[in-house]
Amino acid sequence: MAYNLLKGKRGIIFGALDANSIAWKTAERIHEEGGKFVLTNAPIALRMGTISELAEKTNSQIIPADATSMMDLENLVDKAVEILGGKIDFVLHSIGMSVNVRRGNPYTHQDYNFTKTGWDVSALSFHRTMSVLYNKDAVSEWGSIVGLTYMAAQRVFPDYNDMADNKAYLESVARSFGYFFGRDKKVRVNTVSQSPTPTTAGSGVKGFDGFLAYADKMSPLGNATALECADYIVTLFSDLTKKVTLQNLFHDGGFSNMGVSTAIMEDFMKNNAPEETVAEKVKKERKK
Ligand code: NAI
Repeated sequence: MAYNLLKGKRGIIFGALDANSIAWKTAERIHEEGGKFVLTNAPIALRMGTISELAEKTNSQIIPADATSMMDLENLVDKAVEILGGKIDFVLHSIGMSVNVRRGNPYTHQDYNFTKTGWDVSALSFHRTMSVLYNKDAVSEWGSIVGLTYMAAQRVFPDYNDMADNKAYLESVARSFGYFFGRDKKVRVNTVSQSPTPTTAGSGVKGFDGFLAYADKMSPLGNATALECADYIVTLFSDLTKKVTLQNLFHDGGFSNMGVSTAIMEDFMKNNAPEETVAEKVKKERKK
């Protein structure tokens, strides 16, 4: 259902690769809500992905930009303002990539050149993007900027590898830049910490199927889907959330506040039930 929440708003959407991408679903929902935008991705992803389908469907133009290149980002922002006919109201940063994960290097055996590249693409790119937008004064008052993250920034998920550190940096940049953007331009900056989601980036993580199933069983509301994430981002781009800023917002069915769920405990006990329960032991002791 559409509510016209973004009627007349202009934006930039990074990271739609294919129909599974969180950015793809978000672009579709923003279009339904009356927002207009330009789509952007790294030149190589534009060749590999199917973004032109999305552009056609949503009546939007594609501007290639490698999010690690200041020149590309400057060109992107200038063109976006020109094409959309005014300052930008919303920006979605939906970019993630770890070369160590791709190459199968465990966290304890990183290639630090890969670490640097992954950090530049996944984390510093958020700072670069905001810096270009801020210095060009390209965002309207009460605009909204959202980056996507995962809770490995706070808790240990061993196979998330160096992406955990990249996400911690990304979340910190949201707060630090968000302060200046709020104070000087009345623009809000938040990160959305999403459930594991079956996308190209997500499924690159070792043991992703287990990850997905475990989180789903742990969360009282189950995992949040990419479409549900898109809905949430729409609210953050709308005028209904004007004073929400500097936040890391969990969109994960409740996972982040769980210790254990009955479903996970039942599964665990199937393989780990002791021959005698603690309650039985205590009873026996009492009888003595
Ligand atoms: P995806 O693979 O569809 O999107 C990742 C995007 O990053 C792709 O479009 C890719 O082309 C783009 N990208 C990579 N290098 C780039 C560069 N140098 N310049 C510009 N763009 C570049 O996967 P997904 O899952 O939609 O990822 C979107 C965001 O959501 C990422 O930040 C990811 O870490 C985050 N996230 C994903 C979760 C998941 O389980 N899929 C869970 C929580 C957060």
